[in-house]
This record gives sequence, C-alpha cells and structure tokens, in this order.
Amino acid sequence: MKSEIKVIKKLLTKEDKAKLPLVLLLSVILPIIEGVGLSIIFPFFSVAKDFSNVFENQYLSFFYKLMEIESAQYFVIFLGVLIAIFFIFRTFFNIFYAFIINKFTYSLNRSIAAQIFSKSISLSYVDFTKRNSSDLTQTVMQESLNAASVFGSILMLITEATVLLVIYSVLLFFNTVVTIYLTIIILTILLIIHLIVNKKIQLYGQQRVNSQKSLYEILNSSYANFKYLKCVSKNEDIQDKFNQESLKYQINNQLYKFLSSIPRNVVEGLAFSLLSLGITFFIWTNNEDISSIVAVLTLYAIAMYRLLPSVSKINYAINDILFNRKSLEVLDEAFSLDTEIFSGDNQIEFRQILELKKITFGYKENINTLKNISLNIKKNQKIGIVGTSGAGKSSLLDIIGGIIHPTSGNILVDGQEINSNNIRSWRSLIGYIPQSVYLFDGSISENISMFHTLDIKKVKECLKAVNLLDFVEKNGGINIQVGESGIALSGGQKQRIGIARALYNNAEIFLLDEATSSLDKKNAKQIISEILAISSNKTVIAISHDINILDKFDKIIEIKEGVINE
Ligand SMILES: Nc1ncnc2c1ncn2[C@@H]1O[C@H](COP(=O)(O)OP(=O)(O)OP(=O)(O)O)[C@@H](O)[C@H]1O
Ligand SMILES: [Mg+2]
Repeated sequence: MKSEIKVIKKLLTKEDKAKLPLVLLLSVILPIIEGVGLSIIFPFFSVAKDFSNVFENQYLSFFYKLMEIESAQYFVIFLGVLIAIFFIFRTFFNIFYAFIINKFTYSLNRSIAAQIFSKSISLSYVDFTKRNSSDLTQTVMQESLNAASVFGSILMLITEATVLLVIYSVLLFFNTVVTIYLTIIILTILLIIHLIVNKKIQLYGQQRVNSQKSLYEILNSSYANFKYLKCVSKNEDIQDKFNQESLKYQINNQLYKFLSSIPRNVVEGLAFSLLSLGITFFIWTNNEDISSIVAVLTLYAIAMYRLLPSVSKINYAINDILFNRKSLEVLDEAFSLDTEIFSGDNQIEFRQILELKKITFGYKENINTLKNISLNIKKNQKIGIVGTSGAGKSSLLDIIGGIIHPTSGNILVDGQEINSNNIRSWRSLIGYIPQSVYLFDGSISENISMFHTLDIKKVKECLKAVNLLDFVEKNGGINIQVGESGIALSGGQKQRIGIARALYNNAEIFLLDEATSSLDKKNAKQIISEILAISSNKTVIAISHDINILDKFDKIIEIKEGVINE
C-alpha cells in the first residue's frame, strides 16, 4: 500500500493535488452522515412505537423541553419530518459525492495518460526503438486507467472503512455484547476467505496483464503486417494464437470477478442467518415475544443493510488495489524514462553548407555503425546515398536529421555546430519521407497538415506541387477520407502525400529513405524526377538501393560497412 501511494503521489499533477483535500474531506464527511442517519433511526422507531419513550431518552427529552412543543405526538411527527429531510439531504450528498469521485478518478486517468504520452513522444529515437510500441500504447491507455482505478479504490477504502467504523461504534453504543459477538464471527470468516482468495486474485491480476499484452501484440502485428499475413502464414495459426491468449485473458478476468463475489455472498448469508438465529435464541431463552427488542433488531437490520455493501466495497477495493498493482509498477517505470533534454531553443538557418565532421555513431557501445564519416552538403544540392543493406544508410540520414546523435564528431550548419540548444530548430527544417508513408484515418487535408493548423490554400498548393491536386479533386476533393470508405491511393501517391506533408511543414531539407523502393523502376524514376522538379530550392538527400534512379543527382555517396566508400 505504501509503495502504491508513493507511485500515485508521483503521478498526481499539481492540479490533482490541489483538488485532493476536497475529495478527501467529502470521503470523510460521507461516513459521518451515514452514522448520523443510522443513529437517528433507532430512537425514532422507539418513540414512534411508544410516545412516552420521549421522556426516557435524555437527549430527546432535552430537545422536547427546549422546543416547547405541546405534545409528545407532535414532537414525534416533527422528528419524522426532520429525518425525512435528513435522508433527502443524504441522497443528494451521495449523488454529489459519486459525481466528484468519478470526475476526479477519470481526470486522474486523463492526466496520467497525458503525462505518459508526453514522456513517450519525448524519448530519444534510439530509446524509442528499444521499446515495444504496443507496450507503450497499453501503458498510455490501459495502465493509466488501472492506476486511476487504484486511486479510486484507495478513496473507497478510506470512506467505507470509516463508514464501517462509525456504524460499528453506533452498534457498540447500543448493544456492546451482541455487536462484539457478531464481529468476532464475521471477522474470522472474512479473514479465512481473504487469506484463501486474495493471493489468487493477485496472481490472476498479473496473468491478466500478461495475456492482455500478448493480445495487443497479436492485434498490432497482424494489422501492421497484413499483406504478410495474407501471403505467408495461414490465418488459422494466428487465429489459434489469438484464441489461446484471449482464453487466458477470459479465464483470468472471469476468476477474478468470481472470486471477488465470494466474500460478499458469504458475509451476507452469514449476517442474516446469524440475525435470525439470534432472534430465535432470544425467543427460546426468554419465552416471550420480541416487541421489547424490536427497535434494537431494526437497528441491526438497517446497520447490516448499510454495512454489507460497505464490507463488499472494502473487499472490492482491496482486490482492485492488489489486482492493479502491476499497472502502477509499469507506470512508475514509464514515468522514470529518460527523455530528450534540450538546453535551449536557439534558431538556426541553413544558408550555404552542411558539414559532417568525423562522425562516429553506434547504437550499442563498442559497435560502431558509422565510422569517421566526413561529408559536405551544399544548400539545394541533391545527394544520393547507396550501399548494401545494413551498411548504415538510414543511420546516416537520421544523423543528418538530428534524430540520432553522433557518439563523436560534429555537424556544422554554416559553421555553427548543432547541439541541444538548436537541434529543435534544425529538426524543424527537415522533411522526412520514409519508405512507407503512414496515412491515418482522416481527410487528405488532415493527412497533409498533420497536427498543424489546417490551411486549405496551403494544402492545395502542396498537393499541386506534388501533382496530386487534379487527382484528389476528381476523386471527391481534399476533404475526402483516406482509407476504407474514401479515396484509395497507390504507393506512389502515398509517397507524394508524404512529400506534400514535408512541403506543408516548410521543410528545407528532404530526407528520403528508400522512398521509391515500393515502386517499379519506371515509376520510381518518375517520382524521383518529380521530386527533383518540385525541390529545385530544397536540399534533397535520398537513399536508394538502385543507383540508376539517382542518375540526375549532383553527387552519389556509397556507404560500405559504416564508412564512405570513395
Ligand atoms: N534502432 C537500432 N538499434 C540497434 N541497432 C540498429 C538500429 N537500427 C539499425 N541498427 C543496426 O545498424 C546497422 C545499420 O543499419 P541501417 O538501418 O542504418 O542500415 P541501412 O544501410 O539503412 O540498411 P537497409 O538498406 O537494409 O535499410 C545495422 O547493422 C542495424 O542492425
Ligand atoms: Mg535503411
């Protein structure tokens, strides 16, 4: 519990912490209201049964005298109305409390998800590639929800434990012996159930997280490799895998829910059978009717009706905390990820020359992927990079784009070194066009403006520049959806959308990583010459495995095992 609270403390933002006192206050007021409700019911029943009881109860007789009401009957009527008003108030308070608690828990969920998302997109590229993206998705969406749920459960635990304490004190006050006797029996049984059941619940919690993770992985890898799936593997194999994991997921969830319901049922049955047995015992030993103890019995029955949900909520809360413990660990780990640190936001301009000076880089220590690379690129030059697979071409492109950082050596832009002061400005000049351009579910215009404010005129200019405007307008316009029901784009057209994106972003340096490798030679050549045509005032650095399509480039560099092959 301590470690859970520590993690949650870390995850709470300033605003969350500011709201916390109100939430805690309400959580403590609620049990007090419940206690008052219960304690006023008992005297009311006793005076309603016999008005003269007003005079026997010291508190009631005090108020009766104080208020100078003409008869005990009117006083009882007055009490009844007061109690009705109190219970209406209690209802509103409970509704309000439910609203506040849910608002707080889900806003916590939102703020945790936002923090983790922010962390994940601020990871350095190399750190990002070391992580599994479906894990990250799961952490942002599911684990944040679980953590918020743990927090909700801790609050519930506080509230319901206080309810229990308050009601228990009321019962103790009215009949100490019976209360203690009932407690010992119920507690013993609860403890036994708890010991048997809760360890299991924790286990299922861990297994559930694992199987859910596997399910996400199967889903992501199937959708991401759809063509591969169609051609290479048989659907039955992946379906079997999915079925196995979802069966595990089902069993873990189902057992969790099932086990959680046991304590409530047992305690409910136990409490009411004990109550009946108690009455029977009383009648048997006293040989009389139960009218004399009817008020006490009413009190106990009402108390049980309020206590049992309380007990089951406490049990639920404990299980929820145990069940979702792992989510907090996962979040804690995600929260302490190292993100990129920028020491400043200096602006950088590219006017004449980009110089790479003795760049060495390795993803892992002692293994250098790029070795001692020196290279000059003039503004608006068109540079082609060729080389065998694994030679380091993409890595070189990433170094140029400032996405990965050299282990040694410098990158100079017009003599100014790129460092953490100005790297963001440098990156903003880069338009990266990958091998396969990812188009998300949205309109063509949204896919081009990508997270930036939408400027229709500019979108059209960019589409025109990449020779797509006519096609798009003939097929429904720039607001048509990409994907399933909308416009279908060929590989080359997607590539052009990628270039339009870079243009929209005012990129000055285009980095193309095998951008045309999905096309046949004729189309690839055509795209490349189109790119060259629209980028006369851009610097273009393009990787291709086919040297022939780069024939119009100013300079071709061959990379071989991490070095430039002159
Ligand atoms: N994120 C990464 N983490 C660790 N090693 C990596 C990573 N990316 C690439 N490498 C390694 O660095 C080397 C160079 O990879 P790179 O992607 O730069 O080659 P490439 O020339 O672009 O190859 P290809 O033509 O196949 O795309 C390879 O040996 C590769 O295994
Ligand atoms: Mg590559």
